[in-house]
This record gives sequence, structure tokens and C-alpha cells, in this order.
Amino acid sequence: MDSDNRSGTAATPPSPSIPYDIPTSARAYGWMLGGKDNYEVDRDFLLSTLPSFPECVDIARQNRQFLFRAVRYLTREAGIRQFIDLGCGLPTDANVHQVARRFAPDARVVYVDIDPIVLAHGRALLADDSSTTVIHGDMRDQEAILDHPDVRRLIDFDEPVAVLFLSVGHHLTDADEPSRVLRTVIDRAAPGSLVGFSQVVADDPARGAAMTAHISGGGVPWQTRTPAEVDALLDGLEPLEPGLVNLVDWRPDATQPPLAPVDPDLVPYLGATALNKGIYEYGGVLGVPRRRG
Ligand SMILES: C[S@@+](CC[C@H](N)C(=O)[O-])C[C@H]1O[C@@H](n2cnc3c(N)ncnc32)[C@H](O)[C@@H]1O
Repeated sequence: MDSDNRSGTAATPPSPSIPYDIPTSARAYGWMLGGKDNYEVDRDFLLSTLPSFPECVDIARQNRQFLFRAVRYLTREAGIRQFIDLGCGLPTDANVHQVARRFAPDARVVYVDIDPIVLAHGRALLADDSSTTVIHGDMRDQEAILDHPDVRRLIDFDEPVAVLFLSVGHHLTDADEPSRVLRTVIDRAAPGSLVGFSQVVADDPARGAAMTAHISGGGVPWQTRTPAEVDALLDGLEPLEPGLVNLVDWRPDATQPPLAPVDPDLVPYLGATALNKGIYEYGGVLGVPRRRG
């Protein structure tokens, strides 16, 4: 695994392995949030996806709004002061460390992402921040992440930690053994730790399979699940109120800060989840059971 940290400076060259010939989740998702760090290959792929799955723009944005509410809950109500954000995505207006510090200025955050463009942009954003870092890592290799020097420096595993898998569950296919991935970090976490999890689901398995075929066929590892499959994946964790739900129903707050506006090309797809209710982002915040033994 490549690794780097926030001590990289603007003079540090970005990783040479940024893929320009296939779309990436970080760049396509960032475009739906109003970001500019994407390429034609990402935009073309998304525009080829939306006629069949117009819900994507809404659910990306609904997920990011859930992130704000979840991190606010974790800091303000649950008292969490340290976060590991797995599959953190490209920086936007309200990143985890920024949301957390509104409510807990001493919050510490480790960002992890597999896409080298995230590392490049994260390093620039975090150059002067000693309590937040971004590392290049594969969440499927939890041992390597948990043993990374920056994780060991910033995260105290004897204290409660929030482990975020936000809008990344669909990037873990069954072949990746997602239960094992989750279990590795949960087994390390202290009592009082919490997990944030979300992923794209389809009520109709056939529609979910069609979505999986389209997105994974485009080169992005993907598995749309049914809500029941996600429930099974997270079995053993303890969902907090209101449970695992469509994210729009997770402690909704009409007063939360808005996201950046979307690109005009994506505007026609806004509101699609109100028309087509079968595909949505599903998840919640879950407690980690007490360590056994
Ligand atoms: C849809 S974005 C979600 C970003 C952010 N978590 C959020 O909720 O706003 C998914 C992110 O997961 C990252 N990702 C996908 N597979 C990964 C893996 N195996 N390890 C680490 N990151 C991964 C992608 O690069 C992308 O940045």
C-alpha cells in the first residue's frame, strides 16, 4: 500500500497513478456534490448512468447531508473525539474534520481513500493541520490501515472512536468479505465506539443487479444490495435510533447547511428519488458491542 500523510506539502508531486482512462467513484461522486475535480471520463460515465438510474444525484447529496448530521451527533451527543473516515472522498465544503470541529475543536480525524487524487487534494487542504491526516489505503486491508503510523499517532484505541464507512458499502463486493472488513476494526475499537455506515440499496433485487452490472462494468467496483442484505452485513452491531433507514429519514434536519449547487448538466436529475422510491442510500449509526473475553 502506498502511504503518505499531511506532512506532504504543495511541493510534493501528486501520485503518478491517478487513472485518467476510467471513471473513479471519488471524482464522479464529487461532481454530484458540486465539485470541480473530475475529468471527462467521469462525467461521461455518470451521464451514461443517469438515464437508467436517475436517483444517483439525489442519493449522493442525501448521503453527504447525512454525513453532516451523523458527525454532528457523534461529536455533540456521543462525545466522540476521534474519527477514522474510510473512503473519505474528495474534500468538499463540509468534510468530517470541519463538521466535527464545529462541535468539538479538539477532534482528530484520519482520512483514508484508495483514489490517489484524494490524497493529492487532501494533503493540500491539511498541510497546516496537525490533528488531521489523509492516507492512501484500501479499506479492504484493515490491518494495514489500523497499523499505519499516522493512525497509531492520532487514534487512541483505548478511547471510543467513530469509524465511518459512508457511501462505501457498495464498493465492498461480497468477494471482499465485507463482514471481515468490518469485524477487523470493530474488534480493535474500545467500548463506546460507533460505526457510521451507508450504501446504495435497491428494494428490487433485479434493479439492483442491473445497477451493479452497469457500474462495475464501467470499471468502478460496486455491489448494490437490498436493505435486508445490508442488515445482515451489519448484524451484531447495535443501530441507534431510528435504526438502519433511508438516509433522508435519519434524524432529518431542514435547517442543516446546504450543499454546493450541482452542475447544470445534473440539474434535470434532482428530485428523482421522490419519483422513483426503489433505489436510495441506506444506513445509520451503530454501536459497537462490548469486547468479549
Ligand atoms: C461515494 S464516495 C463517498 C465519500 C464520503 N465517504 C462521503 O460519504 O461523502 C466513495 C469513496 O470511497 C473510496 N473507495 C472505494 N473503494 C475503496 C477502498 N477499497 N478503500 C478505500 N477507499 C475506497 C472512493 O475512492 C471514494 O472516494
